[in-house]
Amino acid sequence: MGGLARLEYRGYDSAGIAVGATQSLTVVKAVGKLANLTSELDTVGPLEGRAAIGHTRWATHGQPTTANAHPHTSLDGDLALVHNGIIENATQLHASLLAEGYTFVSDTDTEVVAHLLAREFLADSEDGDTVGHGVEIEGVPEDAAGTAGALARAMNRVMSQLDGAFTLLAMHAEAPGVIVAARRSSPLVIGLGKNENFLGSDALAFSEHTQRALEVGQDELVVVTPTAVTIIGVEGEPATKKFLEIDFAHDRVTKDGWPTFMEKEINEQPRAIADTLADRLDAEGYLTLDELRIPSEVLRTVDKVIIIACGTAAYAGHVARYAIEHWCRIPVEVELAHEFRYRDPVVNEKTLVVAVSQSGETMDTIMAIRHAREQGARVVAVVNTPGSTISRESDAVLLTHAGPEIAVASTKAFTAQITATYILGLYLAQVRGNKYIDEIQDYLDKLSEIPGKVSEVLKRGELVRMTARTLVDENSVIYLGRHVGFPVALEGALKLKEIAYIHAEGFAAGELKHGPIALIEEGQVVIIIVPTPRRPELHRKVVSNIQEVRARGARTIVVAEDGDESVNEFAETVFRVPPTPTLYAPLLAVVPLQVFACELATAKGLDVDQPRNLAKSVTVE
Ligand code: AGP
Repeated sequence: MGGLARLEYRGYDSAGIAVGATQSLTVVKAVGKLANLTSELDTVGPLEGRAAIGHTRWATHGQPTTANAHPHTSLDGDLALVHNGIIENATQLHASLLAEGYTFVSDTDTEVVAHLLAREFLADSEDGDTVGHGVEIEGVPEDAAGTAGALARAMNRVMSQLDGAFTLLAMHAEAPGVIVAARRSSPLVIGLGKNENFLGSDALAFSEHTQRALEVGQDELVVVTPTAVTIIGVEGEPATKKFLEIDFAHDRVTKDGWPTFMEKEINEQPRAIADTLADRLDAEGYLTLDELRIPSEVLRTVDKVIIIACGTAAYAGHVARYAIEHWCRIPVEVELAHEFRYRDPVVNEKTLVVAVSQSGETMDTIMAIRHAREQGARVVAVVNTPGSTISRESDAVLLTHAGPEIAVASTKAFTAQITATYILGLYLAQVRGNKYIDEIQDYLDKLSEIPGKVSEVLKRGELVRMTARTLVDENSVIYLGRHVGFPVALEGALKLKEIAYIHAEGFAAGELKHGPIALIEEGQVVIIIVPTPRRPELHRKVVSNIQEVRARGARTIVVAEDGDESVNEFAETVFRVPPTPTLYAPLLAVVPLQVFACELATAKGLDVDQPRNLAKSVTVE
């Protein structure tokens, strides 16, 4: 249960566990947050067992209901299974099982696998505890002898029948103390304890019990007992064990007195930006990225950068594009990961792909970088989670040092991602000779002032919170931005959507007159991010955009620099930020929008940290 609580950020619409004792399995499930499962278990009373599997769900197939919650069981109740991923041929398999007389109690793809596994288990005709090409399973408890092998061989056969992504864990009543697991494209790590072993979607699930872990490779099968771990490769051969360092930063995560993780993380941004910036200059003042294991001569041949990400991380990528193109004079595309690989992108060995991801486990992004690497591209991961799948599958890693981000709505990761991609852009400019060392130091000096400026913006939060509380009954908010302010408008809208459940949309300010302005009616709330007056060609146009919406009755909330009085007559409310160069403005302008969304959701009595329908890390496509 502690492990499930640590994985709840991955999905929390229902949960369940199966406990395996001698010759029996007990399955307990509950819809809703994990607390509901805990209450259910309290009524069931203590459960005896030698092994257990659990699952906290983010629904893909079938409503969040108790029946659809995992574990799923075989018809005879002797086999229990949990699954992370999506079985893409579940419909066909379901039909063939129905034709064989199998009945279903859920709408999930996982139950299909449970029946397939039971069918293969019952059909197993071999003896002993071997699997694959005669690999002997180690550490099988006496009373599970022979059955462990049958369960492992059944899983081996089931894997070859499945299309799609899966991490599967299974137990059988006749193999107490044995868990058989398999993975393809979904994450799985093994924790190695003393007379106990663990399996989890990430090491966070068991890191309070052990600091030693094993990575499970693609299409590998694992048999875990209290005293041994046997890993079989895709050809049935014994797999070499790959030990993994576990990032314990998550362990010590508490709210530290803040009402929500989101508020805490919004206020940790000065530290997150500073830590991401820290120690990047060597003794001579050159920018150094020692974790960037891509040779300079390769970086000099790069003729295109493609930033791949999802959600907030993609918006950080959009911000970075302005800076990298300006500094490096090479084209930068920003692609939503789930769109990237289906548009048949032009990618080759001269393409540098930058995968931006807080969790490092986003399946869409994982699949996109695999596609990019198959086309010859080099991949740099900008991630906040060391040891994550994306960092392990990239050529190089540039870590954001934002610290664990627990709230589903990403805040400090966003500003840290912008900081890290800026550092990457400056490094590229340095290696390729676009910028001299003194110019780069100037840029970094200006970046190093940002944490202090963010702190200043946070001190001004009361006006933002007060404004937000007056808007709890709004059901639509429009955000406008231009240049680097446009992705900030998109990010501000996303924050409001995902935690306050208010329809919000970000537009490029210049785009408004090409259609969206039809949405403006009396009282429509419009939030506008205004560029610095020191970029008059941008500033002037955005001020006229404010006038356009104001003239049609909009209630205008403006984010503008200290001293920019030109907005006052058109703004109902102004959230002030300290002056800063245009390219750095997103790091300040986004903060009032984060505070605004957080306060509005709080005022609506909503669960800010775990909003409905969402998961912190979307590990399915
Ligand atoms: C942001 O608030 C959302 N939680 C979501 O858009 C998130 O940014 C996206 O799913 C990408 O997650 P990642 O950074 O872990 O890859």
